[in-house]
Amino acid sequence: MHILEGEGVTKYFGGLAAVSNVDFYVEQGEVVGLIGPNGAGKTTLFNLISAALVPKPGIIKYKGKNITRKKPHQICRIGIARTFQTVKIFANMPVLQNVLAGSFFGTSPGMSSTDATREALESLEFVGLSDLAATPAGDLTLANQKRLEVARALATRPELLLLDELMAGLNHTEIAESMELVKRIRDRGVTVVMIEHVMKAIMNVCDRIIVLHHGQKIAEGTPQEIATSKTVIEVYLGEQTNAGS
Ligand SMILES: Nc1ncnc2c1ncn2[C@@H]1O[C@H](COP(=O)(O)OP(=O)(O)OP(=O)(O)O)[C@@H](O)[C@H]1O
Ligand SMILES: [Mg+2]
Repeated sequence: MHILEGEGVTKYFGGLAAVSNVDFYVEQGEVVGLIGPNGAGKTTLFNLISAALVPKPGIIKYKGKNITRKKPHQICRIGIARTFQTVKIFANMPVLQNVLAGSFFGTSPGMSSTDATREALESLEFVGLSDLAATPAGDLTLANQKRLEVARALATRPELLLLDELMAGLNHTEIAESMELVKRIRDRGVTVVMIEHVMKAIMNVCDRIIVLHHGQKIAEGTPQEIATSKTVIEVYLGEQTNAGS
């Protein structure tokens, strides 16, 4: 089943087509990679799916239903959660309270504070942050702040999780841990779409990859197909290899 689909998804900023006539789908249970050069439109596409922006024109469907006109909080309630390229945590609040925000505003509204706390603690344990529950979020390392965002997103009980550059700025060990984390999220039955420039992670973790360039979808396929695509190598992977990533 297609958990998510886009038809002709387009977003202009003034004269710039940041996302241009993109058709895409995501199957339930898969991990899909969204890649492409800087400015390709990847984050904009996440903003369109999560309703921070509205496509014009274009339609986005979740489980077959048009969600194009929904508000961000409604998108969260129906089971789509996300993280942000630049982490958006409540820096002065303890880690646990950050995650509680997810528990309270997720797919199970009206949850008791006992249940919400249990859910939040479970999410923290899942990402390996239990020991830091009482620490102000702003005191965490970048890698842990990113994990915190994942915990907060998971606390909403999503069926679809959008990860925007979870691994950017992390060291090799942290990247390996993040790859394992994505696999464990998938194993929980959560469908994942991940934007990432770290190619080894994309190639290792994703079932399928979609490539954007100048707002357009220029390729999609298995990691093997994408790694050997002449077009993708020309516009993106060649540049990545030269940069030593
Ligand atoms: N709010 C905005 N207003 C105007 N232009 C924007 C806005 N958001 C994004 N853009 C532009 O749209 C294009 C796509 O940006 P986007 O952030 O989606 O790229 P990206 O693929 O996520 O890039 P990166 O890999 O660097 O994160 C860029 O040219 C960017 O400058
Ligand atoms: Mg981006």
